[in-house]
Amino acid sequence: MYVLGIETSCDETAASVVGPSGVLSDVVYTQEIHAEYGGVVPELAGRAHADKIVSTVTTALTRAGIDRPDAVAATSGPGLIGAVLVGLCFGKAAAAGWGVPFIGVNHLEGHLLSALLEPNRPVFPFLSLVVSGGHTSLYLAEDVGAYRVLGETVDDAAGEAFDKVARMLELGYPGGPVVDRLAREGNPAAVDLPRPRPKVKPPKTPSGHRGTRPLDMSFSGLKTAVRSHISGLSRATDADLCASFQQAVVDVLVDRVQRAAQQTGVRHVTMAGGVAANSQLRAALSALDMEVCLPPKSRCTDNAAMIAHAGRLRLLRGERHGLDQGARAQWTPGDS
Ligand code: KG4
Ligand code: ZN
Repeated sequence: MYVLGIETSCDETAASVVGPSGVLSDVVYTQEIHAEYGGVVPELAGRAHADKIVSTVTTALTRAGIDRPDAVAATSGPGLIGAVLVGLCFGKAAAAGWGVPFIGVNHLEGHLLSALLEPNRPVFPFLSLVVSGGHTSLYLAEDVGAYRVLGETVDDAAGEAFDKVARMLELGYPGGPVVDRLAREGNPAAVDLPRPRPKVKPPKTPSGHRGTRPLDMSFSGLKTAVRSHISGLSRATDADLCASFQQAVVDVLVDRVQRAAQQTGVRHVTMAGGVAANSQLRAALSALDMEVCLPPKSRCTDNAAMIAHAGRLRLLRGERHGLDQGARAQWTPGDS
């Protein structure tokens, strides 16, 4: 089965064809318009998706050498609703026009299953750390569609913390790649920053959990500590500050993975989402005494191959969605 995947949940317009032998095409157009605003502007994202969706899908089909796929999968949440709607409506219309099945895919499920596209793919059950600009969650993936949130951030996502620190240092947007680069020249022990734990009674977590779990995370205190340091008297260099901040984020994430492995006895781990492109985090995870599968950076950031692939796995199980499938701003993977 050859599946056309479409992804438009944030600021990437992406299309891909995935078949029995893997990825046949993988086209990603990154919207640059948001850089001047220091963050994604939802209205502009939706308009830019509408401008690019036809050319992106056409290129993906041409590169795959396919006129008509056997099915269409499109991200139907979570994400910016105006952005999600562009790809979702386009995908449903294309499926209806071709007379092929359609399935709406959870963007986070796409990320957490993306390692299954790799040659050294993990086997179920595996741990999957999804760390992006909007989400930071550690899942136990037991099967396609069966996921347990073992821990998640109770406030800022890790990528959001990278972006906010970069903004404080006036390094531009998105912040992750530039902090990553600068950190290589800095001393990670230069500034003493906290590895905060969530407070005893946090507000509801993004997946709706009340009360803290041992593997939950918190990044807003770390961001505040960076801000306090910047306004203090003896300010470290940007490189030292970036290295110290990045070290703190990596320490927290690696700690949760190690404790999840101890708690569950699961030995396979993978990672996805934009922050999974971070060089220090990749090195730290690779050094663990576990079976580690790290998709290439281009498969960690938003792409449509992961959507085509997750959709294909569900379609092969006989799942389909009607053309009334709606867009969802919040959606925990595994929930119907
Ligand atoms: O998954 P993604 O492409 O989009 C969503 O948020 O869904 O992730 C984008 C996030 C941004 O916050 C960006 O700063 C961060 O990933 N990021 C990084 C790196 N590359 C991208 N964070 C740390 N190190 C990087 N190398
Ligand atoms: Zn994402």
